[in-house]
Amino acid sequence: MALLADPEIAASLLRWHLDAGVDLALDDHPHDRFAESREQSARRGVPEREPLRPHVERRPLPIAEEDMRRPRPAPAAQRAAPVAPLEAAETARALAASARTLDELRAVLESFDGCALKATATRLVFADGNPQAPLMLVGEAPGADEDRQGKPFIGRAGRLLDKMLLAIGLDRRHVYIANVVAWRPPGNRTPTPQETAICLPFIQRQIELAAPRLLVTLGAPSTQTLLGVKDGIMRSRGRWTSCSIGGRAIPTLPTLHPAYLLRQPAHKRLAWRDLLAVKKALDAS
Ligand code: URA
Repeated sequence: MALLADPEIAASLLRWHLDAGVDLALDDHPHDRFAESREQSARRGVPEREPLRPHVERRPLPIAEEDMRRPRPAPAAQRAAPVAPLEAAETARALAASARTLDELRAVLESFDGCALKATATRLVFADGNPQAPLMLVGEAPGADEDRQGKPFIGRAGRLLDKMLLAIGLDRRHVYIANVVAWRPPGNRTPTPQETAICLPFIQRQIELAAPRLLVTLGAPSTQTLLGVKDGIMRSRGRWTSCSIGGRAIPTLPTLHPAYLLRQPAHKRLAWRDLLAVKKALDAS
């Protein structure tokens, strides 16, 4: 503790946590959960467990469908009854279908508690830009800056995206931007397949209601989720395809995610090619 009184050591410890992806405090005080469960067991008169034995019987891994049926443990910040992911996905589908406008969709998302990410996120990140725009861009999930301000793509990757758009004469008045997942995954981890499946009906409805003429998927997770493909982004980028949503086939171009381009600037030339293709298609449509 005395060490933490030194601001330099405290700052370096914080940086170490940040670098490891721990950038979120769920509580002001640390909890020894092992001690808590020992106390609870003692109160219920359960004798203390023996130490781990070397031979632990292994059960087969559950298959994905069973996994979807099993209730998730509720996150620390939300101790309400856990919702099984399949049930959550069904509720999401019904709620998304019930929204007749983008404002209604935002409202149902605000009230939806079926995605565990909501418990750790600061706020919902619904969309930015112009919902009437002919071009819609869809990313993966909000990061820390987006989580703080409630708008997609406003951090470093977002600033690069703005520059890319400007290069073809567009800004946020000319595009509508959203993410597949509307809450920030803690530490910017990739959303799990369950979280993505639960959020999918909402982004599909958002696309349907915005009804863009063209869609651009940013990066592999958004491309794979919306197009239902398994190909890596290097294979799918730059190839026009179509995304079937609400009975409409929307011309869709997958491209590289700006966060990836920040790490691999040499690939910006590929993204530039994709942007030119988008501009050409916009001009022709
Ligand atoms: N990355 C995304 O996919 N979306 C954002 O909103 C920000 C970063």
